[in-house]
Amino acid sequence: MVRLCVFDAYGTLFDVDAAARESAVPGELWPALSADWRRKQLEYSWLRTVAGAHVDFWQVTQDALDWALAAHGLTDAGLRAELLGLYLRLAPFPEVEPVLRALRARGMALAILSNGSRDMLDQAVRGAGFGDMFEAVLSVDDVGAFKPARAVYDMVGARFGIVPREVLFISSNGWDICAGAAYGFRTFWLNRAGAPPDRLHGRPEAEARDMGELLSHLERL
Ligand code: LAC
Repeated sequence: MVRLCVFDAYGTLFDVDAAARESAVPGELWPALSADWRRKQLEYSWLRTVAGAHVDFWQVTQDALDWALAAHGLTDAGLRAELLGLYLRLAPFPEVEPVLRALRARGMALAILSNGSRDMLDQAVRGAGFGDMFEAVLSVDDVGAFKPARAVYDMVGARFGIVPREVLFISSNGWDICAGAAYGFRTFWLNRAGAPPDRLHGRPEAEARDMGELLSHLERL
């Protein structure tokens, strides 16, 4: 029986493209800048964990942005500051709040498990008005490694005293879902981008384009 829904944060609850889209980056450039920023952010998180050279996700996010700005020939320090400011108050995807409220109304416990630093997550959760929504907001700051290190997924059992099969893990990141499934979580891949499944250890148990489908999925479990 599922007793807890655990959500990834960036790209799952919060729209990581919103910062570049809302910034002064020229309209024809923001999608590529945003994609490069996100790709480098994830690459740097994996590389630093493999190398045992951890820094927090805010540092990784800044380093990735600096790479992406340089790749696109953007040198304006004001633009950099604007993008980082926007990243700290990313909007949630529109369907997120009603789905979270519906889950809570059904008595489901909710948590976040994210690479984000504690400070980034606090700001995002408060900015979205989600302060009362989650039993816990778990940051990898506590283990000093990024997903998909098992130590990150271990934080859920350590905090809630439950086994992985009692957890439904929801992420838009295919690689995060594969690793969560291999770890033993029930999984719901929120495949917003319509991407093919990652060829990794573990396979998603369920997949949907829209978070609204989470409600009917839970009824079937
Ligand atoms: C997170 C990233 C992986 O929130 O999206 O953990």
